[in-house]
Amino acid sequence: MEFSISALAPERAKTACLVLGVFKGKTAAQAELTPAARRADRAAQGALRAVLAQGDLPGRAGSTVLLRRLAGLAAERVLLVGLGEKSEFDETRFRDVIRSVANALKELAVRDATLYLIGHKLPSREIAWNVRQATLGLREAFYVFDQLKTQKKGPPPALAEVTLALAQGGVPASASRALHESVATADGAALAKTLGNLPSNICTPTYLANEAKKIARQYKLRHEVLERRDMERLGMGALVSVTKGSHQPPKLIVLHYHGAAKSKKPVVLVGKGVTFDTGGISLKPGAEMDEMKYDMSGAASVLGVVRALAAMKAPVNVVGVIPAVENMPGGGASRPGDVVTTLSGQTVEILNTDAEGRLILCDALSYAERFSPEVIIDIATLTGACVIALGHVVSGLFANDRRLAEALVAAGDDAWDRVWHMPLLEDYQEQLRSNFADMANIGGRPAGSVTAACFLARFTRKQRWAHLDIAGTAWKGGREKGSTGRPVPLLVRFVLRHAGGRAA
Ligand code: BES
Ligand code: MN
Ligand code: ZN
Repeated sequence: MEFSISALAPERAKTACLVLGVFKGKTAAQAELTPAARRADRAAQGALRAVLAQGDLPGRAGSTVLLRRLAGLAAERVLLVGLGEKSEFDETRFRDVIRSVANALKELAVRDATLYLIGHKLPSREIAWNVRQATLGLREAFYVFDQLKTQKKGPPPALAEVTLALAQGGVPASASRALHESVATADGAALAKTLGNLPSNICTPTYLANEAKKIARQYKLRHEVLERRDMERLGMGALVSVTKGSHQPPKLIVLHYHGAAKSKKPVVLVGKGVTFDTGGISLKPGAEMDEMKYDMSGAASVLGVVRALAAMKAPVNVVGVIPAVENMPGGGASRPGDVVTTLSGQTVEILNTDAEGRLILCDALSYAERFSPEVIIDIATLTGACVIALGHVVSGLFANDRRLAEALVAAGDDAWDRVWHMPLLEDYQEQLRSNFADMANIGGRPAGSVTAACFLARFTRKQRWAHLDIAGTAWKGGREKGSTGRPVPLLVRFVLRHAGGRAA
């Protein structure tokens, strides 16, 4: 799907489908045409208003009416879309409208469309925000994962060209830049989604390593992959302990993107890459266990972000670090009670082999220190407790630096890929007490997502560090089951804003 942005008189838009917004009025006849719709209506001698007068566009936001071959317009069709009450037009509404339009365009199977929707500025947002949401929303709606089905549902979606149009003025430079950035971000999110959706018999640690290699080749990035023996030699006892029950060799993937001066310290992103989490000897119950194929979503998001930044040639330095393993039971697997020595030198008593994410992350976080990071952010489907605390709306944010936390909250709000700042207080650390090692790998039921973060905090004391628990946001269950590609939009926003000097 190719995107472009232009300032263009709506009546002159030569397109298979012209999309125009209409705000709700007290009655259908009083509906308020947006400026672009008004212009088109004038050119079509009141044909749009006539349709509204008949009450054919219900006031509901996202409802649509299709009109064909209106005299006076260059477009083949007009899709009117309800925007709801003007006074209630907000972020959620804008996103819903985009989704409805995308679904209508899918049904129509048109090859191209021109949307006059980005001009409806929200009170506290720039036009660039609309551009980003429109691009990501359309790409999201048109995402399909059918590579494993032999009977495809139908031909692939037809929409090949989308024009985001403004009826008046020129195109602001910030809007063009936003388009360029969001196309790359959408590609990165789609990559993260596909990696998440791929089952664990395909998407193994080796598969992730090959995927990183592909990105490195395509964008000429430096990359390296550490093998089990390298990890053992370095002393990554915690990381190695998780892989012992699996026949899949572990990989520690490092991918460097340098778009800024060498002297600029990188943002290091560390992504949990458990390609399947059975729980190990502390085996999980059977219900919905298939969803543990998504336990590499943090890793997928890191690959998606690096790809996006490289594709848009962002002026930033970023290093992606991915510990990739499979957590299986077996004759060689770690047992509850085993004590391991981490790369940091601290020892850990593994009281539950299902708390494996923190075991692989702690060693990856220590390893990340060698890249002299400006900040380290880890991304992990770390705890079921985070899903209980926050549901599927926001990701959990933990940080040892207030300004970094604030920058991530702001970037999440900007990307509409939101996070909630959770407490990371020393008081919780005592829950990790162990009689046999420096710490236990679990902290009991109370505040499970906090004690998991507290565990990681013990390995990042020297760094400005944040942790995103994406257990509730990385995928959807039920009928809509599938990866969301989150938090690729958030992280791309954060890194770009960070480079712009607005953050931290
Ligand atoms: N990958 C899971 C976390 C998870 C569970 C994410 C459910 C999404 C949905 C993680 O490795 C895990 O098993 N965590 C345990 C920790 C516990 C043993 C302290 C959990 O949350 O139950
Ligand atoms: Mn687990
Ligand atoms: Zn896990």
